[in-house]
Amino acid sequence: MAKLSLPLLLLLLLVATATAGRTPTLVFLLAGQSNMGGRGGATSGNGKTWDGVVPPECAPSQRILRLSPDLRWEEAREPLHAGIDVHNVLGIGPGMPFAHAVLASRAVPPDTVIGLVPCAQGGTPIANWSRSTELYDRMVTRGRAAMATVGHGGEARPKLGALLWYQGEADTIRREDAEVYAPRMEAMVRDVRRDLALPELLVIQVGIATGQGKFVDLVRDAQKAVKLPNLKYVDAKGLPIANDYTHLTTAAQVTLGKMLAKAYLATL
Ligand SMILES: *[C@@H]1O[C@H](CO)[C@@H](O)[C@H](O)[C@H]1NC(C)=O
Repeated sequence: MAKLSLPLLLLLLLVATATAGRTPTLVFLLAGQSNMGGRGGATSGNGKTWDGVVPPECAPSQRILRLSPDLRWEEAREPLHAGIDVHNVLGIGPGMPFAHAVLASRAVPPDTVIGLVPCAQGGTPIANWSRSTELYDRMVTRGRAAMATVGHGGEARPKLGALLWYQGEADTIRREDAEVYAPRMEAMVRDVRRDLALPELLVIQVGIATGQGKFVDLVRDAQKAVKLPNLKYVDAKGLPIANDYTHLTTAAQVTLGKMLAKAYLATL
């Protein structure tokens, strides 16, 4: 092993500490079901394991953090929803490519550090996200914790950029659920904005590409019918789907992440 001089060793230690203590300037909530949780590369085989392929658009970066299950900031890496989207085999989702695409834009300040706040849980209908449910409360708790972060250098608290929402596949099973999707979505957004005290919080909703049942078009129509200010719609239909007919592939998630970033950046 090469010998390191003492000053160099001290410098390396300092850099490590500073990196570990990093806090974000701009945070995003990621919620919904499995396609937000990320199944890219995790859909084949019987036991279903993740293939471990991490494209460059999803690579770790010192400027991309994630809020851990126990509410600490750490360097984000795939699978982003580890410890959050529980009881599922996780793969690539849209969060990391989204963050990379936002950071690559000149529309954000060059010292931006993104904090991703994963909250998705596979298989959940929107009824599982109404106010006071477990998942809703977890999302609000994590959102508040993210915004309350105080930097070690006394930096300003991070700004919440948007809620990225990809959900609805589970509401395609029963016609009754599909038919009330729009008012349920509107109520969820109003509640989150009120509980986070951010009445103008941007919400970017993904139009579903697949469904667990047959009422996919009913839910898609409902998603397009959601009428709220500061709500953007990004359509996942047409992106490559894995051979389970349900989940976006890794390549599709990379594309979706870039589409979400474009929608976000257009609001700046
Ligand atoms: C979703 O809602 C059902 C019915 O209320 C409940 O049994 C289930 O535990 C919920 N799932 C999650 C993940 O919250």
